[in-house]
Amino acid sequence: MHDARQHFRRGTRVPGYGHDVTVVDAADDETPLSGGRWTAGVVRVGDTVRRRPSPSSAFVADLLGHVHRAGFDGCPRYLGRDDVGRDMFSYMAGEVVPRWRRFDDVDVVAAGELLRRWHDATRGFRGYDVVCHHDPGPNNAIFVAGRPVAWIDFDFAAPGDPIEDVAYVAWSWCISGRPDRGPAPEQAQQVRLVADAYGLHRRDRLRLLAAIHEQLNRNVATWQAVAAGSRNPTADHPDARLRANEVISWTRSEQRYVTGNGDAFTAALSRRSTFKIKGEPWYG
Ligand SMILES: Nc1ncnc2c1ncn2[C@@H]1O[C@H](COP(=O)(O)OP(=O)(O)O)[C@@H](O)[C@H]1O
Ligand SMILES: [Mg+2]
Repeated sequence: MHDARQHFRRGTRVPGYGHDVTVVDAADDETPLSGGRWTAGVVRVGDTVRRRPSPSSAFVADLLGHVHRAGFDGCPRYLGRDDVGRDMFSYMAGEVVPRWRRFDDVDVVAAGELLRRWHDATRGFRGYDVVCHHDPGPNNAIFVAGRPVAWIDFDFAAPGDPIEDVAYVAWSWCISGRPDRGPAPEQAQQVRLVADAYGLHRRDRLRLLAAIHEQLNRNVATWQAVAAGSRNPTADHPDARLRANEVISWTRSEQRYVTGNGDAFTAALSRRSTFKIKGEPWYG
């Protein structure tokens, strides 16, 4: 298991991010949190999580304040900077799944609903329609009693088209070519459940498959940048560059899988929603 303490000595100054950041070893009262694959040195201290700042720290700080004022409790609170310059967040009790796996229908419905509640809470932040999470995979969800109840890790959050996040949830929670992930028609049915639970407008359901392809393309591009050293080259998780080529070839095989099963996904998304959705009408 990754241990952040192997990689940075206490007080090392790490250039980048428009300002230098002092990375510290995990001290005695700090527990390394190892579920992430991007950010080095995330630790828990009491009821807080400490994380080195990212280029979007200020944006995320304001955004989390906005969604909490909107009544959303499915994410940590931003608590300011600690004395070595790390961002502090409230620690969300629960579990983080160690790796993507097959989820049941209740899980994927919960993920779709949680995403919709997040988007609704972001509305109007700095005048934007919606702020997308842009990384709402199972690895960035906190599970309580086996169900996803909160999002974490907002480094990629930015204004966007909601379908980008719906597509990411559909892919990351429902779809995989791995044999233990179930037959494509069942995965397609779960994608439909995500669209239903989110309350995706009918016209958007028909472009969800293309949006899933777009997310896979972006994943390839992101990891190509990591492999080339042009993305977060100094403060990346130490494992990130080692894993990049593996992630790229896996994503490409997932793309072939989605393309090869396009008919199953299109058929499922062509059916009308089974749910009556609260809030804005989704149907058209
Ligand atoms: N607010 C939080 N509450 C509880 N656990 C957290 C919180 N933030 C991060 N974690 C834990 O730390 C791990 C890494 O954090 P994350 O922000 O996802 O980093 P990365 O950018 O590497 O994905 C997560 O997998 C989770 O286990
Ligand atoms: Mg993460």
